[in-house]
Amino acid sequence: MAIETGKLTVETIQSSKINSVDFSKLDFGRIFTDHMFVCDYVDGKWQNPEIKPYQAMTFEPSARVFHYGQAVFEGMKAYKDENGKVFLFRPKQNFDRINKSAARLAMPEFPEDYFFEGLETLLKLDNEWIKAGVGNSLYIRPFVIATEPAISASPASTYRFMIICSPAKSYYNSPVRVLIAEEFSRSADGGIGFAKAAGNYAGQFYPTSLAQKEGFQQVIWTDANTHKYLEEAGTMNVFFRINDKLVTAPTSDRILDGITRKSIIQLAEDLNIECEVRQIAVGEIKTAAREGNLKEVFGVGTAAVVSPVSAFQHQGELFEVPEIEDSYGKLFKETLLNIQNNISEDIHGWRYEVK
Ligand code: COI
Repeated sequence: MAIETGKLTVETIQSSKINSVDFSKLDFGRIFTDHMFVCDYVDGKWQNPEIKPYQAMTFEPSARVFHYGQAVFEGMKAYKDENGKVFLFRPKQNFDRINKSAARLAMPEFPEDYFFEGLETLLKLDNEWIKAGVGNSLYIRPFVIATEPAISASPASTYRFMIICSPAKSYYNSPVRVLIAEEFSRSADGGIGFAKAAGNYAGQFYPTSLAQKEGFQQVIWTDANTHKYLEEAGTMNVFFRINDKLVTAPTSDRILDGITRKSIIQLAEDLNIECEVRQIAVGEIKTAAREGNLKEVFGVGTAAVVSPVSAFQHQGELFEVPEIEDSYGKLFKETLLNIQNNISEDIHGWRYEVK
């Protein structure tokens, strides 16, 4: 069936695949909902926004994204409360960031009305896929790729913007062990580290696979020049708790301006927890760990929410970070999830109801 709603064309599925999905066993990002949003940039403008059944797509082998990695994405989540209301969390931040990422990769910015109309219509169509209850969510992946079939090394003249959705539980099932980078780098000054560019993730896979062989799940990246300062983990920003004070690295052109990160900095203020945003030397964390002052390390991000780090290694020396009773990480996770799931008051106006 095809219906015209404003600018958006909607083609719905014949029959849903939802009954074949076991929502109690979800591996992150492997199952996708019934529909997807698609919009093409052609002749200098975004046109023909449409929602259609989730399906494979055809591109020419010469499409520029395959050769030069002109691709950016976002990670968002939708939550359902006990009354069936659906909420997004600070979605304007994701919208602004995908356009910031796109601009850095010489890609055209996407219009706000198309973004919200497409996203909200998609969530209403795939509403059954959003399960109520803290810990359940629908992970939303907006992304943009260069589609022009031409392989000269220059920006494309055609692009595709899409949104796909995947029901999610937790990203990590247990605390993560991390390796602090000494040789490889994720990003450099003047580079694309701040952007949610596909290549930022591809570049991490090899060093992360080496870390995984040593029994670590992630790498904590250090500054490319000296490898002395802690920056961010592969899919998360990172916080350290030294005694009762939190520290996290400032954002820069090397570090992703994480929405969970900035929400936690605000929650720390609300909860009267001191939080310093400043450079953090690896040596400072090692000293704190040796002296028993490093109480917690946790990564934060949309997919992972708040993920405790149970150990880190640097220059062959392993530091365990044992779980503690009054964990800030747990407190932030609970506070954030309660806001996201419409359980607690939302004093900052972060919830966005999809009506
Ligand atoms: C997110 O937290 O949304 C991310 O971008 C992580 C993703 C690479 C799985």
